Amino acid sequence: MDKLKIVGNGPLNGEIRISGAKNATLPIMCAALLTDDTLALSNVPMLKDVKTTIEVLEKMGADVQSNQQDKVDICCASIHDLAVSYDLVKTMRASILILGPTLAKFGECQISLPGGCTIGSRPVDQHIKGLIAMGAEVNVEHGYIKAKAKRLKGAHIIMDMVTVTGTENLLMAATLAEGVTILENAAKEPEVVDLANCLVAMGARIEGIGTGVLKIYGVDKLHGAEYSILADRIETGTFLCAVAMTKGKVILKNAHPESMQFVLDKLLEAGALIETGKDWILIEMKDRPKPVDIRTLPYPGFPTDMQAQFMTMNVIADGSSKIVETIFENRFMHVPELNRMGANIEVEGNTAFVKGVERLSGAKVMATDLRASASLVIAGLVADGITYVERIYHLDRGYEKIEEKLGNVGANIERITVSS
Ligand code: UD1
Repeated sequence: MDKLKIVGNGPLNGEIRISGAKNATLPIMCAALLTDDTLALSNVPMLKDVKTTIEVLEKMGADVQSNQQDKVDICCASIHDLAVSYDLVKTMRASILILGPTLAKFGECQISLPGGCTIGSRPVDQHIKGLIAMGAEVNVEHGYIKAKAKRLKGAHIIMDMVTVTGTENLLMAATLAEGVTILENAAKEPEVVDLANCLVAMGARIEGIGTGVLKIYGVDKLHGAEYSILADRIETGTFLCAVAMTKGKVILKNAHPESMQFVLDKLLEAGALIETGKDWILIEMKDRPKPVDIRTLPYPGFPTDMQAQFMTMNVIADGSSKIVETIFENRFMHVPELNRMGANIEVEGNTAFVKGVERLSGAKVMATDLRASASLVIAGLVADGITYVERIYHLDRGYEKIEEKLGNVGANIERITVSS
């Protein structure tokens, strides 16, 4: 199992190229199931989760070509297996995104329930409720969702809470349904917008993209398209925090500042100097960060996927801060690890109280989810001595070449491959 060795050193300086967004890539790859033509994708990040999605699609019978860097062509003309097993779903919850498009296109889908997850229970009741409203017959038995529908029918669905993959699953299903579907309380995340834009490029008819009410006019058929994936706002935000914490100056290229205004505002509040263009962000930090209070919310609020990284910045800030996590009930697993590095954080329910300290000290740490792992890496950059971040397969699920990108801007970071 690989680990990262980080030796805390000086400021990060230079240029980082941002990859395509993991959370846009996964649903968009699943959207290929909606057509017999080829969906040609570019700006695809070569991540573990992307490889898992390719594996799932190939097992179903898709032809996937991914020889060129950041390009993936998917053709689902010969799908023959409409079942996705637990073995594949357990490594990546987003496999649930197979359900909506497969059911809409092939009239049937059997997929393992994703089950529990370290950051919270993460049920999929809203996905199922929506599909039932669209006329599907859904049974949950032996840990599997078994869904059938000759042809889905348009429906008016009000979602009980804002769910990103729930919205994406129902949006994809509705593109091929008979009649009009209205999705109320839909997620407005930029990755949902990216999926919707790709579906439109494939011939879908969708109104209200980027709002909380999506109106989808079902069509009989979708066609192939070429589509370039949106930049990853979470990868971008993670590097911005790293630069701010090390008092560096870095330009992030191929970024998408428009999709991360709240995060940029919080960095300004922390004392960063920020300039942006259409696809770049320049950040410079001269002093120790000021503490910033955070409350995670659905987009356009502060993203839960940036909570751990901002907590790490607050850990070395000049003062105290409060972080409230409202999306997932168990997303503070980085706290004990950060405290082992010298942080002063106390958790009460869904709120973390952080008292900034001047220095962190390197330690062996380990995280049990993706963004928590990222927060430990950036903590290591400013810690005295050596930090080992173990179990980095979590990181590899969501960050493309993180050690190379950070190393290029001056971090002392190295991957150590441990043969098991
Ligand atoms: C997606 C992102 C993840 C991000 C999260 C919140 C992907 C692949 N993953 O996850 O990185 O942290 O959005 O921005 O895009 N819920 C239910 N019932 C449902 C669905 C959700 O109760 O049927 C609850 C969840 O338990 C959670 C909240 O709704 O408390 C939001 O979850 P959701 O937006 O669905 O997260 P994901 O789509 O799994």
